[in-house]
Amino acid sequence: MTDAETLKVPEEAEVVHGWLSRTREVMVFRRRGEILACSAICPHMGARLEVDRRRDAVVCPWHGLAFTLPEGRSGHPRYARLKTYAPTLSGGLVLVEPEDPA
Ligand code: FES
Repeated sequence: MTDAETLKVPEEAEVVHGWLSRTREVMVFRRRGEILACSAICPHMGARLEVDRRRDAVVCPWHGLAFTLPEGRSGHPRYARLKTYAPTLSGGLVLVEPEDPA
């Protein structure tokens, strides 16, 4: 991976939106000490997603889809999956690569 493709955010950030490969908007956030990363765009109609700590989910403000992480699953049959990533830590930064290493 080149630096231009990798999203790098400060390790201490609570919720950060950034760009992966300059084309995909991704959100990175902490949950009970765990660092999670997923697409920031709702697969239904493209709204920008938000973290809802009370529901322990990533939610869509337009029509209410909720995705659980790290799986990225919703209960909706057509929009059941949200793209998720496996962030890593390096030198005080959270790194998100365009594709999962597995
Ligand atoms: S745009 Fe997200 S649920 Fe419709």
